[in-house]
Amino acid sequence: MAIIDTKIMDLRSEIVGVDQLVPLLDGSQDTYVNLDNAASTPPFKIVQEKVDEVFKWYSSVHRGAGFKSLLSTQLFEEAREIVLDFVGADEDHDVIIFSRNTSEALNLLAKRFPFQPGDMVLTTGMEHHSNDLPWRARAEVLHAGILPDGSLDMQDFQDKLEKNAKNIRLVAVTGASNVSGYMPPIYDIAEMAHKHGAVVSVDCAQLLPHRKVDMLPPDSPRHLDFIQFAAHKVYAPLGSGGLVGPRDFFNRGEPDYRGGGTVEIVTLDEVMWTSSPEKDEAGSPNVIGAVALAASLKFLSQVGMDTIAAHEADLTRYALEKLTSMSGIKVYGSTDPSKAQDRVGAIPFHVEGVQHGLVAAVLGFEGGIGVRDGCFCAHPYILRLLKITDVEYAQFHERVMHRNRADLPGLLRMSFGCYSNFEDVDRLMNMLERITSGNFKGNYEVHKPSGSYFPKGFDPGSVRKYFTI
Ligand SMILES: Cc1ncc(COP(=O)(O)O)c(C=O)c1O
Repeated sequence: MAIIDTKIMDLRSEIVGVDQLVPLLDGSQDTYVNLDNAASTPPFKIVQEKVDEVFKWYSSVHRGAGFKSLLSTQLFEEAREIVLDFVGADEDHDVIIFSRNTSEALNLLAKRFPFQPGDMVLTTGMEHHSNDLPWRARAEVLHAGILPDGSLDMQDFQDKLEKNAKNIRLVAVTGASNVSGYMPPIYDIAEMAHKHGAVVSVDCAQLLPHRKVDMLPPDSPRHLDFIQFAAHKVYAPLGSGGLVGPRDFFNRGEPDYRGGGTVEIVTLDEVMWTSSPEKDEAGSPNVIGAVALAASLKFLSQVGMDTIAAHEADLTRYALEKLTSMSGIKVYGSTDPSKAQDRVGAIPFHVEGVQHGLVAAVLGFEGGIGVRDGCFCAHPYILRLLKITDVEYAQFHERVMHRNRADLPGLLRMSFGCYSNFEDVDRLMNMLERITSGNFKGNYEVHKPSGSYFPKGFDPGSVRKYFTI
């Protein structure tokens, strides 16, 4: 087993709800193993504490002369400074517009980008739908190809960029894949995009929790023009996220959401928009969410993103060694443990002969382990990894049309957070061994409209007895 960093061991005790007992199918209880951190991470205790504390002081932001309003306004602006600093943005050049999550930040940029007829966006075939569909609504979208190992086909990317340079206004790429953990070379991509007169937008939803994100100075050819991210993926699930980009860009044009806080002055005939970022933050902002996000990022800075990356690489290496040597398991994307430091710790895999939904259910009900299964909001990428043919796709399409999602193609995904440990991996491996040898207890059936598996007779509403509002 790899050496565990003591700082990271301490970090486990900084997580709210870590090792929470959950019920198992046989009536016993076990500590919960959360290997679904790519979806959402649990909160840090420091976030919980700061949020608890700030409630006392919370009031309206940017309006109100009372003390609490003044302090809330200051806290909201301090949160902006902390976030901009964390991502290496230049405060004179860039602004952060707070959003609800990554998807909202991406949609905001897509709507605010001044696309003209004939303009194109170059993205990749590995994107989360949130970094693909918003562009499709606004421009013609080209998708750079994916190689069989799940990595980006850089030759295809370059060919598409060069061939369509006249029309490509924006290159939108993920910082890390939520499916395979693959990290595209974002700084090389930025340089290529700039050379061809395009700007670059990096979806940092999966990168921010695992690596130091640095937008680099605005005059660098490798500068990232726009980034997006969400607090719920960085240990601060209080409903906030952000879009960072040039102040001048957002000062131009009209906001997408209009209303309170977005204007300087309004008459019945005229509107004078205020400046960025307030112009794009209509209505009362989520000051508590911003405080939570900033508190978390401050804490991550203290721990050090390099320490986190090294620990997660150790876990990824360990998990890949185990998974690739287990019969009946196929790992997708990069399978090489020695390259664990070049990716983030999201590992997609398949258990031969067992539906992914069934595996996920057995892990949850009998192992107390949370993983994700399905297509992880990245259907084109999963279809490519699984080599689904057009004929097969047509059949699946037909079934979904008839509200039958049973046995659709998909994968399982384990994904690490900074607090994950080797025992988490061992617990998963033990359960996978049981599943591959057919040694699980429950009798499961599929719920066709969702494709989820449940033990026969299980009432999903019954979990409410563990917590009610
Ligand atoms: C790479 C990537 N982009 C975008 C999103 C959407 O994030 P959000 O749920 O914060 O809108 C996700 C969510 O999993 C993601 O993994």
